[in-house]
Amino acid sequence: MPKRGPRGRREDALLKRAHALLPAGVRNASSNPDYAMVVSRARGSRIWDCSGNEYVDYLLGSGPMFLGHAHPAVVSAVREALEDGSNYLMVNEPSIELAEQIVAAIPCAEKVSFNTSGSESTFFAMRLARAFRKRDKILKFEGAFHGMGDYTLMSNEWTFRPADFPKPVPNSAGIPACIEQQVLIAPFNDVETTAAIIDRYHSELAGVIVEPMQRTIPPVEGFLESLRELTRRYEIPLIFDEIVTGFRLAYGGAQEYYAVVPDLCTVGKSMSGGHPISLICGREDIMSLVDPTRALSGDHVLQTGTFSGNPISAVAALAALGELRKPGVYEELFAKGLRLKTALDEMLRAAGIPARVTGEPPAFEVWFTDGEIRDHRSTLAVDREKHARFTELLLDRGIVKAHEKFFVSMAHSEEDIELTLAAFESAVAALAARE
Ligand SMILES: Cc1ncc(COP(=O)(O)O)c(C=O)c1O
Repeated sequence: MPKRGPRGRREDALLKRAHALLPAGVRNASSNPDYAMVVSRARGSRIWDCSGNEYVDYLLGSGPMFLGHAHPAVVSAVREALEDGSNYLMVNEPSIELAEQIVAAIPCAEKVSFNTSGSESTFFAMRLARAFRKRDKILKFEGAFHGMGDYTLMSNEWTFRPADFPKPVPNSAGIPACIEQQVLIAPFNDVETTAAIIDRYHSELAGVIVEPMQRTIPPVEGFLESLRELTRRYEIPLIFDEIVTGFRLAYGGAQEYYAVVPDLCTVGKSMSGGHPISLICGREDIMSLVDPTRALSGDHVLQTGTFSGNPISAVAALAALGELRKPGVYEELFAKGLRLKTALDEMLRAAGIPARVTGEPPAFEVWFTDGEIRDHRSTLAVDREKHARFTELLLDRGIVKAHEKFFVSMAHSEEDIELTLAAFESAVAALAARE
């Protein structure tokens, strides 16, 4: 089993320099400063810190390194493309081909529009819905994360004192108070309460945005179907935020996996081998509002960005999607994820530690609670201190996870899985010894 060694002088000095100039802090796998690290490089399923410690990586750059770090097909495609320039603003052949592949892959995709980050795509998707419906309010689900926009940074996963539904709680200072009037909050996986809110507010609603698997909480049977039916009844655009689930739960994303097709969806992270690109795709009648020839029509949605659809990210995405289309890749991914998820669950049970392991095999999480996890409020009772300790115990054993999930990649090998299972076993034993 890998073992994390002490931090070296060079890494210590780098952390000091980072702290001196980066007021948002040093983003890390653990908030405990003893576990802060500076990454020096990554390849395949492994990542190294500047003190030479090697880790099996389940953080995957917050998900994008779905094929593993520095995947040879992506690296060689990007290396070749770099010779021809990195950004033109103007349309280019790789982005046209990518749009064609997106339409072929994603069930709701009739038209496509490229952006750079996930936050940008969810922001524009909601703007499209508002322009299409000629109304302002957006309904989102408590605990869902859709990025950093003012409209979506409300009642997300870091909401520890929720308000009564449908009132939002802003998650950041600096969001104009008037935006709170435009956001409604509903409980994920609760059809009855969600239906009551939609029935009451449908004439003011521009759109409903949902993570089809909210963080690592899968939809209960019938939830997405009911949401589809309710939004269709009132002709309210349904937006799936598939920044995490797109190309991850299936090649066609969560809408293929759960067999519910939205009107619009946003995709990012796993599609481009770690290169910055995201997109909105969906129904032609909504997407066509971005067409600049409508500029004088009064319903034109302005949507552009300096790096949107840049040829390097498009080439990287074409190479990544080529890998994802290879036969058997999703079967293998699911088999690996399922082994890890099931084993962790069984080890915690055997050790008598109250815990729930939720999610789908490519993205799952452990919650230290004996209650069922089905929505944001059920996560509020979890033992966060124990979770932080478990993350640290894994780091000690050379395993890095994201703060709220394990991302499994195509690059995790049999050896990685064995190492991880051994680390789980020993970390669970160390947790149990503390009880
Ligand atoms: C579901 C979801 N939507 C949107 C975003 C925002 O994406 P980005 O960080 O690329 O802006 C994230 C980021 O984690 C996400 O998980």
